Amino acid sequence: MIRTNNISFSYTEYEKTDELDTEDLNLIKAAREAAVNAYAPYSKFKVGAAVRLESGVIVVGANVENAAFPSGICAERNALSNSVSNRPADKPIALAIAAITEDCITEDFPSPCGSCRQVIAEEESRTGNKIKIILSGKNKTVIVEGIDNLLPLQFSRKNLKIILP
Ligand code: THU
Repeated sequence: MIRTNNISFSYTEYEKTDELDTEDLNLIKAAREAAVNAYAPYSKFKVGAAVRLESGVIVVGANVENAAFPSGICAERNALSNSVSNRPADKPIALAIAAITEDCITEDFPSPCGSCRQVIAEEESRTGNKIKIILSGKNKTVIVEGIDNLLPLQFSRKNLKIILP
């Protein structure tokens, strides 16, 4: 039997920042500040990511590039690696991403690359918690509730048939 399935995904767009929750606005601010610290001499595209943990603590990361290009790493993965390394039991509940080019916040909201989506998926699976993903551009913010909306049919521990505690 042949069956064609359709997967839909949803996201919410905000054109005015006053429509956002205060804690989401604070997380965007932290991501924008983190972007300033990016080391991006090659692309000149500075990305900041801020993770809000269940405790309310915010952990940030920025992209760090390398002359050997594949050795560079994205902001989202740096932020999540920081939170897992330093506060493993404190679950990420939201992740904001912002980018700067030519000293300005980008008009378009940044969207996580495929590798970062995979890492966000692993973090949701490790903690059993969905992560609110906040993509913030200059005049538009998009909120995606959980990585399923950005990475359908994802590869996970289920594919490896590994059951971890
Ligand atoms: N980058 C991120 O930090 N996050 C993403 O999700 C997309 C891309 C970085 C990688 C590289 O340093 C620069 O942006 C240009 O691709």
